[in-house]
Amino acid sequence: MIANTKRYYLYKVIELIKDLILKNRSYRRFYQDFSLKGEMLKELVDLARNSASAANLQPLKYILSCEGKKNALIFSHLAWAGYFADWSGPSEGERPSAYIIILGDTTISNSFGCDHGIAAQSILLGVVEKGLGGCILGSIDREGLRESLKIPKKYEILLVIALGKPKEKVVTEAVGSHKKINYWRDGEGVHHVPKRSLDEIIIS
Ligand SMILES: Cc1cc2nc3c(=O)[nH]c(=O)nc-3n(C[C@H](O)[C@H](O)[C@H](O)COP(=O)(O)O)c2cc1C
Repeated sequence: MIANTKRYYLYKVIELIKDLILKNRSYRRFYQDFSLKGEMLKELVDLARNSASAANLQPLKYILSCEGKKNALIFSHLAWAGYFADWSGPSEGERPSAYIIILGDTTISNSFGCDHGIAAQSILLGVVEKGLGGCILGSIDREGLRESLKIPKKYEILLVIALGKPKEKVVTEAVGSHKKINYWRDGEGVHHVPKRSLDEIIIS
């Protein structure tokens, strides 16, 4: 009986994880006036802090922002949705409520492997669990951002995570016979993300 109950809860937890991963899409348009508090950003970084790190070096450091002026500075150094040539990113009113900048501390290590990717995923799963969403940005004017926020040279700027309350619907779909993986937006503003099939990605 107890074993069955345990199995049931384990099944439910796996369902929940799957649900979080599927809901964790890259959102680029938000309700900008939604306030995301610094305490929540700290909670999210705590998830990253407890994530895997190569050789357990834990070389990542973070800058948090949930305030208008700092958000605007960060926003001005980001490039959004490279496949959309005629869209330069979310317009005023649809911009993220907060950011977490992931830095690599070069006094701890010179290479950060995939630590920042794991950290970013932990942060995003955490925020999705709260009914919110975000987007990883690697396309950053790093020198501009460093200058604007006076980020010391010893920190490598690795990724920016934009966070907020999504104002768009994002759906995944199978890559079609044309094999195109470019995401696209339909007439209703729904963002479509083609994903390769399991058959294509498992090679043996
Ligand atoms: C390392 C990394 C860097 C990314 N950089 C950007 C970026 O600079 N700008 C952007 O709009 N999206 C960026 N993305 C989001 C991807 O475009 C997105 O993950 C992809 O289109 C698939 O959509 P999905 O996250 O909803 O599955 C990045 C994602 C990753 C993992």
